[in-house]
Amino acid sequence: MADQPIIKLRDGNMMPQLGLGVWQASIEDARHAVLKALEVGYRSIDTAAAYKNEEAIGQALQETDVPREEIFVTTKLWNDDQQNVQQAMETSLEKLKLEQVDLYLMHWPCPEKDNYVDAWKKMIELQQQGLTKSIGVCNFHEAHLKRLLDETGVTPVVNQIELHPMLQQRTLHAWNALHQIQTESWSPLAQGGKGVFDQEIIKSLAKKYGKTPAQIVIRWHLDSGLVVIPKSVTPARIEENFKVFDFRLDKHEVSDIAKLDSGNRLGPDPETFN
Ligand SMILES: NC(=O)c1ccc[n+]([C@@H]2O[C@H](COP(=O)([O-])OP(=O)(O)OC[C@H]3O[C@@H](n4cnc5c(N)ncnc54)[C@H](OP(=O)(O)O)[C@@H]3O)[C@@H](O)[C@H]2O)c1
Repeated sequence: MADQPIIKLRDGNMMPQLGLGVWQASIEDARHAVLKALEVGYRSIDTAAAYKNEEAIGQALQETDVPREEIFVTTKLWNDDQQNVQQAMETSLEKLKLEQVDLYLMHWPCPEKDNYVDAWKKMIELQQQGLTKSIGVCNFHEAHLKRLLDETGVTPVVNQIELHPMLQQRTLHAWNALHQIQTESWSPLAQGGKGVFDQEIIKSLAKKYGKTPAQIVIRWHLDSGLVVIPKSVTPARIEENFKVFDFRLDKHEVSDIAKLDSGNRLGPDPETFN
């Protein structure tokens, strides 16, 4: 297995910095993708109850020769289950055929429902029961995070947010870092490189390093201290996206890519998504 960077989370648990995302992958595609990824060397898989493919991840984990303890499995609590946290976790574990996941994330804060603090308290209990090693959130802004900290005293270890060269969320990334919350980038390739892969800076760095635009963008996440979970169900791309540990961008190149930030969101706004 290729050497790969591992991040120590604030609760002491270790998380690979690069993983495979499986949103919008069918059951069969997700199973094949996970098996391919494990064969190539990935050791982290990001799924969610809402992706409706947890069973496929469970099947792949049973089929692979890679031992369970070497694989970091993330799943997520869906919005409709914020008042049904224990049952939602147990259903996910059953589908994944696991006794414990490595990371359980609240998928969205859903501020209008105003239930995320209570849901977080239940997630703390899940961790105490040993059903998940770590707990974190997705799509939380500073004000939502502050409430969790103030009202429970327990800080999420990860905040998974939409983050790619067009939407870099630098203020939130810095706030997370200040509180030892690891920022994890979703849609890291801007969903297939939309508006990113054809940018001059990306193309010129790809030429300089003999890499593809996707590899340059993944390297930019890694060199920016982010955890990154590119999704692919295409075997050649799964392999390509993992071949990023034999080069590095220097700090000028990281800042040149940072200039692509236009604030363009591809997904929903966490303030209004319920
Ligand atoms: N927490 C949240 O709210 C949230 C929201 C969205 C996503 N996520 C997580 O983040 C993961 C990644 O985000 P994403 O799936 O939205 O988008 P993404 O990883 O930015 O892009 C995925 C798209 O890029 C294509 N692709 C992959 N590698 C490529 C390459 N080397 N060259 C060209 N195209 C390539 C894939 O196609 P093929 O699959 O056809 O190869 C797919 O269409 C998700 O799968 C999910 O696990 C979390």
